[in-house]
Amino acid sequence: MADINTVGIVGSGIMGSGVAEVAGRAGYQVIVRSRTRRGADAVIEGLTASLDRQVAKERITTDERNSVLGRVTATDHLGHLADCDLVIESIVEDLAVKRELFAELEQIVKPSGILATNTSTLPVIELAMATQRPEQVCGIHFFNPAPQMKLVEVVKPITAGDDTITAALAFATACGKDAIEVADRAGFVVNALLFPYLNNAVRLYEQGTASMTDIDTAMPGGCNFPMGPFALLDLVGLDTSVAILDALYAEFHDPNYAAMPTLRRKVAAGQLGRKTGRGFYRY
Ligand SMILES: NC(=O)c1ccc[n+]([C@@H]2O[C@H](COP(=O)([O-])OP(=O)(O)OC[C@H]3O[C@@H](n4cnc5c(N)ncnc54)[C@H](O)[C@@H]3O)[C@@H](O)[C@H]2O)c1
Repeated sequence: MADINTVGIVGSGIMGSGVAEVAGRAGYQVIVRSRTRRGADAVIEGLTASLDRQVAKERITTDERNSVLGRVTATDHLGHLADCDLVIESIVEDLAVKRELFAELEQIVKPSGILATNTSTLPVIELAMATQRPEQVCGIHFFNPAPQMKLVEVVKPITAGDDTITAALAFATACGKDAIEVADRAGFVVNALLFPYLNNAVRLYEQGTASMTDIDTAMPGGCNFPMGPFALLDLVGLDTSVAILDALYAEFHDPNYAAMPTLRRKVAAGQLGRKTGRGFYRY
């Protein structure tokens, strides 16, 4: 399998932008595809602001900033991803929408290209089977915020070739991450363990066990977690969180995965967390 030099990223939300920064800083040529020109411009603006903050904190030099900006471009044309050695899909957590995208990528991306998904929970096999190259499809699951979080879960659907997984693990390692290989089960390792906890925090709140802010004080103080569950739900995004819980519930039918009503009501109200300025907290 050819070396990975050029990485395409589809989706310019929280994760698409973060993964673009990570891959650009690791030295890859990166092309991010957003559905709109405005979204594409926003990726470069966001990346510039993030790199400028790091220059100000003396974590990177101005030369490094400039070379990362020279390597990362953004487009609103999926066709511009044709020559990518690896494409990482990072769009909305919706299986039908992702399947449609993988079928399109199959037509566009050169035959040797690896097609990966950043899905948090959806069955990677379903995306592999939407293509004619299921042996070259895997999950490369980054965590939020991607530039800071050390872990990447490389997900191996039963159709994936060993060299696809080897290339994905090497890519994640080259991005400075700790890469683990996981089977294609909803939630992989981290979200299968994390989401019952987050969902049960909402349950405790709904039951009146403690206030939201007291629950958020409890877990950092009592377990040394870096933030409380409501702050983390807001960071993840409540729509994404509900989608993750739904996928976990669909796979395992465990009641701990059944999304609590407050989560669904907030999503219905458009209170999606930090990204909309309001979730459990206001930003
Ligand atoms: N938020 C997290 O903490 C987190 C962490 C790891 C992985 N993920 C996964 O990353 C992926 C993206 O999540 P995010 O948090 O960046 O979400 P987001 O809401 O910030 O971004 C979603 C992106 O998908 C695009 N999009 C929406 N509908 C679309 C459609 N019909 N066709 C094409 N593009 C569409 C949006 O324009 C946006 O660019 C999801 O699969 C999610 O599960 C999220």
